[in-house]
Amino acid sequence: MALRYDRCTVETKGATPGGTAALVAARDAVTAAWADGTYGFLGCPDIDTAPFEGWAGAIVATGRFDTQVVFGIGGSSLGARAILATATGDLDGLDTYFSENMDPIEFGRLFDRIDLSRTLFIVITKSGTTIETMSKFWYAWNAMESVAGEHRHKHFIAITDPEKGALRVLAEELGLTSFDVPANVGGRFSVLTAVGLVPLALAGYPIAELMAGARDARDAGLSAAPESSAILAAANDHVALHAAGHTATVIMAYSDLLGPLVEWLCQLWGESLGKATTRAGETVEIGLTPIKAVGVVDQHSQLQLYSAGPRDKHVVFVEVEQFERDVEIPLGLSGSLSHLSGKSMSSILTAELRGTRAALHQDARPHSTWRMDRITAANVGAFILAWELITAIVGELWDIDAFDQPGVELGKKISHGLLGREGFADYAALATAASDDTLRFM
Ligand code: PA5
Repeated sequence: MALRYDRCTVETKGATPGGTAALVAARDAVTAAWADGTYGFLGCPDIDTAPFEGWAGAIVATGRFDTQVVFGIGGSSLGARAILATATGDLDGLDTYFSENMDPIEFGRLFDRIDLSRTLFIVITKSGTTIETMSKFWYAWNAMESVAGEHRHKHFIAITDPEKGALRVLAEELGLTSFDVPANVGGRFSVLTAVGLVPLALAGYPIAELMAGARDARDAGLSAAPESSAILAAANDHVALHAAGHTATVIMAYSDLLGPLVEWLCQLWGESLGKATTRAGETVEIGLTPIKAVGVVDQHSQLQLYSAGPRDKHVVFVEVEQFERDVEIPLGLSGSLSHLSGKSMSSILTAELRGTRAALHQDARPHSTWRMDRITAANVGAFILAWELITAIVGELWDIDAFDQPGVELGKKISHGLLGREGFADYAALATAASDDTLRFM
């Protein structure tokens, strides 16, 4: 296992206010908040995976199910989906679908595709009240009646808050097997709890290795000497670059398998750090806008903007040093392409990454690189924990609450109002006020 951070050395970077002392103080504050039970995410890697593996293995071994459909959104889905996408070989578990959006066409297609009698639905919502997840659960629950009758509860697993929320109540009423999301672990920090572990174990993903990587990353991240700490270096780079006007973080992973992991990271980064006020209530309207990119594909679409457009970005490359399989380009290409003959696909990919990075560097455009020696469960676990920790430390340095999301609450209330929820009529009125000038185009 190896995960390295090549820090940003581009001159335009400023300094984190308070320097190393501020970085260490922020890390200490995060550690203290773990110790006093406030920040539960740092304890997640210590969760024993054996019960999850045993439970999931027993379900798969019955042979009754061949498919799981995960209903969840945001932090209740992105992490497991991202991790599963990194699997480099065939997994010995259930086929997995993630249903996140409220797209009726996609949802209808999913139900056309699956055999309900062999499907397990994993319903994940910490609050237990999320419109998307709960309405789809109810759809599936009703669809299952004609297939499994009084046994339909055996086709549903609930993962939710230990005490609160409509799903907790329903799980008890309907007799569903359920797992808890620890109360002190927020949605986007919850992938290393039952939220991720249940679907991953059912899919046959090596969760023990994932958690071991996360544990190592946490321990190294909290204990490394300041001058050699990759976590503090990364936190410093992001804060310093932000202060110097680089307010967007482009996360560019050179592997298709890592694309969904970038999506997970975009949510963590965007929702945690995009805040209107400090914890004391001072208006700051701060954040680092995350942008997903996949190399080499986005060299042919987004890179022009990053290399020539506004100097407001920090490009974070995610590099894989060794791929589990490779493909050789056959000999025989001629002329200006002859140098490609006999090259491995991975060597071409790496040359393109290095070329892109060097070109940005030549033009003093900030960049940094996270390097994994291989795509393994341990490296993925380490990457996840590393970024959770960096996010929490940046939140401390900015004195914002990285664990709430007040900015999305009003929109949710208005949606509930529009859908007729009792007591929410005033919110519905705000939607009417927001629709203004329509110009007919065609
Ligand atoms: O990070 C968060 O808190 C959010 O992204 C939530 O995970 C998301 O809104 C889903 O919430 P819930 O798990 O309550 O359905």
